[in-house]
Amino acid sequence: MRSGAAFSGRGKRAAFALYYGPLHFLLVRGIVRSLGSARRSPRRILDLGCGTGTAGAAWALECEPTAEIVSVDLNRWAVNEARWTAGRLGLRGRATRGDVVSEKLPRPPAGILAAFTVNELEHASRARLLPRLLDAAVAGSTVLVVEPLSRRVSPWWPEWAAAVESAGGREDEWRFPAVLPRTLALLGKASGLDTRQLSGRSLALGFY
Ligand SMILES: C[S@@+](CC[C@H](N)C(=O)[O-])C[C@H]1O[C@@H](n2cnc3c(N)ncnc32)[C@H](O)[C@@H]1O
Repeated sequence: MRSGAAFSGRGKRAAFALYYGPLHFLLVRGIVRSLGSARRSPRRILDLGCGTGTAGAAWALECEPTAEIVSVDLNRWAVNEARWTAGRLGLRGRATRGDVVSEKLPRPPAGILAAFTVNELEHASRARLLPRLLDAAVAGSTVLVVEPLSRRVSPWWPEWAAAVESAGGREDEWRFPAVLPRTLALLGKASGLDTRQLSGRSLALGFY
């Protein structure tokens, strides 16, 4: 099992824990709010490639009632961070080490999230994951895939978008004005990042 290259150094881990994690929380919360209600409200969110667990937590907190969270990642450090995030936010659930491609999908109605994860998969793993997500949606779960706007880093996107749209889902691009907590904004500015906007693209199945 690979250990998850996104967190291979202390610098990368610090950047995720302090900056990208909170940013992904705000972005996914914005996307879920904009997409509106799921046709069947998820009782549980499966966060595939959870990282620090913020993206899944954002969705779980938007569910009515708040959903339980199941976080899965190859990387041990990430799994511990995801546990910490869920605990701090008062979410029930668990975080475990595992591979998104072979992870058992929860019974519907669940929410299945892959935020900034599909891009990290090798071609063969991506090809295995897509039909599993489509089948989960047919079975009554809600599926959300989030990636950066730049298509340069996700050449697979058009194929996934076509598959999701022909299954009745939707593709969106998002640009939200960023209202960041001061410390987060300062961190971004100090690193030369554009902190004025939260942006991303998504594929969604099972929302109205
Ligand atoms: C860019 S991070 C995104 C983390 C989180 N979803 C977020 O939005 O902040 C990608 C995550 O996917 C994990 N990952 C990559 N390949 C994986 C696989 N095959 N199975 C499980 N996790 C994987 C990495 O360890 C990393 O935590």
